[in-house]
Amino acid sequence: MQVVETVPALRAARAALDGRVGLVTTMGALHAGHLALVEQARAENDAVLVTIFVNPTQFAPHEDLSKYPRDLPRDLAMLEAASVDLVFTPVPQVMYPPGFQTVVEVTEISQGLEGEHRPGHFQGVATVVAKLFNLAQADRAYFGQKDAQQAAVIRTMARDLNFPLEVIICPTVRESDGLAMSSRNVYLTPEQRRAAPVLYRALQAAGKAYADGERRPDSLQQCVLDVLTTEPLAQIEYVSVCDARTLQNSTTTGDMPLLVSMAVKIGLTRLIDNCLLPNELNTRDGLTDLLGGVASIPHI
Ligand code: PAF
Repeated sequence: MQVVETVPALRAARAALDGRVGLVTTMGALHAGHLALVEQARAENDAVLVTIFVNPTQFAPHEDLSKYPRDLPRDLAMLEAASVDLVFTPVPQVMYPPGFQTVVEVTEISQGLEGEHRPGHFQGVATVVAKLFNLAQADRAYFGQKDAQQAAVIRTMARDLNFPLEVIICPTVRESDGLAMSSRNVYLTPEQRRAAPVLYRALQAAGKAYADGERRPDSLQQCVLDVLTTEPLAQIEYVSVCDARTLQNSTTTGDMPLLVSMAVKIGLTRLIDNCLLPNELNTRDGLTDLLGGVASIPHI
């Protein structure tokens, strides 16, 4: 496994990779969710490139940039064990040298949900991912469902800007009690960690109501809220049930696929989680077809 830190070194090492290249972009603090993306990339490509970069432009001033967990030696050991070919670990000055002034804004699908609660976040994500796509020259890039709106933003950007790669979305990986894997889970105290699976139980309640025939978005949203409010440590930021293709709220009760998503603070830690309904859509192909897929563009 080769580890490079500069743009010229990355370009040279990338050019030496043979065949199809799968890309997994990360901010480090790797966990089983990242490794599942690496495994998928390994299975579907000839070589795997992973990037580790805690991107400052996607954090608001009050967010956790300075204390975001970082452990590069551990991350590299995990990637080596996962047979990754090439790892890019730039410092911020490499990605944003003096004079840097270009941004990528994906206007519609970035609004609402996370975009509403984290203004500027998706501009930071889209800009850094566009740069990483240009640098990596990969054939496929893999993102996790947990950041569903991020995945939709990136797919939309890749299509709109004609990036010649496939963006693939893989299902959320969970702990045995249902908590979605996240680098931020390390912030939770033991008591908060015990409370955190309430997000998953709330999604399950919506899934069960849907399976029993409920289609009204506001009723499904209420199912989620009913479970979340049983947990005294849960401070709800938002719960949304929207059209999975457009991420727009819908009051109609047709059979369109739905995205149930939420952000909940447990103590100081902000957790997000989501699922598609019907449940059968929470697969690589279901997620990849729907989130930010062509179906989300009404005029196509
Ligand atoms: O999901 C993440 O880890 C980050 O948002 C990403 C895609 C690596 C961009 O910094």
